[in-house]
Amino acid sequence: MVTYVEAGKIAKRAPGVIPLHNETGFSGMRKAGNLTAKALDMLTDHVRPGVTTGMLDQLAFDFGQEHGGVPATLFYRGYRHSICTSINHVVCHGIPGDKVLREGDIVNIDLTYIVDGWHGDSSRMYGVGEISRKAERLIDITYESLKRGIEAAIPGNTTGDIGAAIQSYAESERTSVVRDFVGHGLGQLFHDEPNIMHFGTPGSGPELKPGMIFTIEPMINLGRPHVKILNDGWTAVTRDRTLSAQCEHSLGITETGNEIFTLSPGDIFNPLRAK
Ligand code: MF3
Ligand code: CO
Ligand code: CO
Repeated sequence: MVTYVEAGKIAKRAPGVIPLHNETGFSGMRKAGNLTAKALDMLTDHVRPGVTTGMLDQLAFDFGQEHGGVPATLFYRGYRHSICTSINHVVCHGIPGDKVLREGDIVNIDLTYIVDGWHGDSSRMYGVGEISRKAERLIDITYESLKRGIEAAIPGNTTGDIGAAIQSYAESERTSVVRDFVGHGLGQLFHDEPNIMHFGTPGSGPELKPGMIFTIEPMINLGRPHVKILNDGWTAVTRDRTLSAQCEHSLGITETGNEIFTLSPGDIFNPLRAK
């Protein structure tokens, strides 16, 4: 097993260069992505009123220990937890702790396991008990945004085509796309080239080529797109305090399209739509 710090030493390259991975990389990503997806499936039944975000964090750590996955966020740039838990108006990077989940909350859980040196990064939205119609609508729009981004992630398109697909859809639903955080290349590094913006112009940015591996992880707000970072240095919230949602997959570009590494084994990637 490798920690984030060790994994970072394995792959080093010139900035701006987008690595192209071979079958070794794809099979490593398949394994890491699958373990992350299994853990996010496992957490579904634990997201209930009365549960603390710290308890979910512990569950994710323990699951990794049992199955050979090290959380990439542990000791990453001073972060000390296995997951991020972003509730309601928290956009991303919410820190797990004593906070108790309440009926009607929506929470994003973001998890990255390192398995045999490869990073599987994914996040989903969970509803706590019954949630409001507007929260449900925001979550559905966010999943559809990711789906449209993934559909644009094919060889010959550019990174800008992904962002444009997400932005045009989200804005057509009168929601907004957060600009301050982006998807990212990953593999033996947690955050690598290319950056994947969730907004932009068709045809802009580097061309997508078979072998590229990255995340798409749009953050969509019911109100304005602007965020601020709380004093803990991590928690990003919407400036206007409106609800925010996010979902994330890790994928690789293939000769014919793409391969999603973090598909839910139980087909509950969107827990709201599970049955
Ligand atoms: N998993 C997040 C991502 O999607 C990164 C979290 S970094 C942390 O890139 F330190 F905030 F955990
Ligand atoms: Co993530
Ligand atoms: Co990510």
